[in-house]
Amino acid sequence: MFSGARGSVIVVGGGVIGLSVAWRAAAAGFAVSVLDPAPASGASAVAGGMLAPLTEAWPGEEALLELGSASLRRWPEFARELAAASGRDAGLREEGTLVVAVDAADRADLLALADHLASLGRHAEPLTGKQIRSLEPAIGPSVRSGLSVPGDLAVDNRKVLAALRAVCEVESVRVAEVGPATVRLADGATRRADVVVLAAGAWSGQLYEPLRHVVRPVKGEILRLRATRSTLPPPSRTVRCSVQGNHVYLVPRDDGGLVVGATQYEAGFDTTVTAGGVRDLLRWAEQVLPTISEYEFVESAAGLRPASTDNLPVIDEFEPGLVVATGHHRNGMLLAPITADLVLARLEGKS
Ligand code: GLY
Repeated sequence: MFSGARGSVIVVGGGVIGLSVAWRAAAAGFAVSVLDPAPASGASAVAGGMLAPLTEAWPGEEALLELGSASLRRWPEFARELAAASGRDAGLREEGTLVVAVDAADRADLLALADHLASLGRHAEPLTGKQIRSLEPAIGPSVRSGLSVPGDLAVDNRKVLAALRAVCEVESVRVAEVGPATVRLADGATRRADVVVLAAGAWSGQLYEPLRHVVRPVKGEILRLRATRSTLPPPSRTVRCSVQGNHVYLVPRDDGGLVVGATQYEAGFDTTVTAGGVRDLLRWAEQVLPTISEYEFVESAAGLRPASTDNLPVIDEFEPGLVVATGHHRNGMLLAPITADLVLARLEGKS
């Protein structure tokens, strides 16, 4: 793996959190191994890629908003450095975000978000339906009002993962249990390092007993579509929509690609994509973006968000030799840069 003079680290989990930690730790001089039976294939691969602390803000979750904002400020530099290290585009999109509403109740949701952001001194500009369509012509007439939140960005999650994989070697082995400075593999072998970092997302509680009731899976289904030559291209910005009380988001990708997300269920470790989930996402998205029905349907997928009890990530040294970085719930992509910094500070004994 990486040679390093500062000590050895095993990272358990090859999603965006584990790989970001591994990359930063190796760059800082640690000898790093990453273990994951199927790297870059879990929730990080299914993600929409929104970097959206403001439009995901919720009253009572001010600490998460602060953490998310601090991580978002790191993203441009994180993306630049990752691109330089990997030779690959890290897929940061800086066009901003629109929040749109369809009916009167959705508009009330939108106004509540605007009031909440204003009370926190955060900027969001109200827009009429006409103003929205002048920015994004593909948005349909049932959208009557919205907010522009230029500070909320997005990344192409799969580009980020490809770039991180190019700078991190990952061993495809299954881990059975994690402890201080020790990892037991499913085949019975044991690995040791100075520090183990547990970043196994929704599975973290299955590998380390103290997390069993701290992190749980929350299923999310997404769709991937692509505009055809005869349809209007997708919006250039992320569009977050309230549609008759339902929440759906549209996140553009390069080359006419569009991610539509996401359902949210407490369904244990089930990753079945259901017919009802696909139908609901398409139905809600079509009310906002009528041309979507003519897009090519590329993929549907389900991932398991690692949710914590208070929606804040769990980033801490649980025991000497064991650092935990999990529980990122809806915000793994957003919180990757700050999580890597916080874990690195632990590894360096700075916090
Ligand atoms: N970050 C959006 C989601 O988890 O669906």
